[in-house]
Amino acid sequence: MKIVAGNSNLPLAEAMSTELDIPLAKATIRRFSDMEIFVEIQENVRGEDVFVIQSTSYPANDNLMELLVVIDALRRGSARRITAVLPYFGYARQDRKPSPRTPISAKLVANMITAAGADRVLTMDLHAGQIQGFFDIPLDNLFAAPVFTRDIQDRLQGENDITVVSPDVGGVIRARAVAKRLDADLAIIDKRRERAGVSEVMNIIGDVENRRCILIDDIVDSGGTLCNAAVALKEAGALQVYAYITHGVLSGGAVARVTSSPLEKLVVTDSIQATDAVKEAHNIEQLPIAPLMADAIDRISNETSVSSLFD
Ligand code: R5P
Repeated sequence: MKIVAGNSNLPLAEAMSTELDIPLAKATIRRFSDMEIFVEIQENVRGEDVFVIQSTSYPANDNLMELLVVIDALRRGSARRITAVLPYFGYARQDRKPSPRTPISAKLVANMITAAGADRVLTMDLHAGQIQGFFDIPLDNLFAAPVFTRDIQDRLQGENDITVVSPDVGGVIRARAVAKRLDADLAIIDKRRERAGVSEVMNIIGDVENRRCILIDDIVDSGGTLCNAAVALKEAGALQVYAYITHGVLSGGAVARVTSSPLEKLVVTDSIQATDAVKEAHNIEQLPIAPLMADAIDRISNETSVSSLFD
């Protein structure tokens, strides 16, 4: 087995390499002066089972192209099997046509990864499970739920007033999975814009008064969904509001929005490398996913069950 790291999240790739006790393969990934990407894998990969680690996070287009070029280099180097490991799968939110003449970019990206020569894909908390069907190659979708559950249990040990909250109707399945593991109640926020230009109305379905609320989501990007939900929960009488969100995209003014929100803590995984602003934020923490991802890689390589990781 060999592991090749792209440049999007080297600390995570290094942590996975340590977990697996396999050094990162020697490779040069650099830019020509016009910013085209050049890749040279500096060790033999003929007949190898190769895992390429690259989150397609900011800058999404550069990181995606880097992944494609690395896969092409490995294919031409006669790797036996190539697994594209995307701890964060960017473009996933464009998974349907919300209006006429718009793209389904998640499908386009799936086609590109397949056309480049990947044999399989490993990712985590896909925005929508159906994106698996955009690939005609096997895809393993891991869940951060066990990592989150352990941290919640440590943080709120002994508290029996926990309500897990989905910040929108689309996230109910993900939130319910965590609620089930914690044996906690579930609430759902139903966001509605009554008229164009009028601010969103947050209807909370479920009991949150005098409860410790834990928002669960796959992505925090601008932080708008999250911070509005936190305010709505506090206004509805929640004691404390925490958030566990798999992918900390945190673009634009998101960090400032989170630090000035009523959130006690926003916990994200390290699927996306933290910026300095994220590291310095008083109420943002990262949880490591290298052990889980490395375990999945090991199981794929040894052709044992990946789903049993979540039993
Ligand atoms: C939406 O369906 C996703 O699950 C997230 O809630 C959304 O992408 C978060 O975006 P933002 O942080 O920009 O509100």
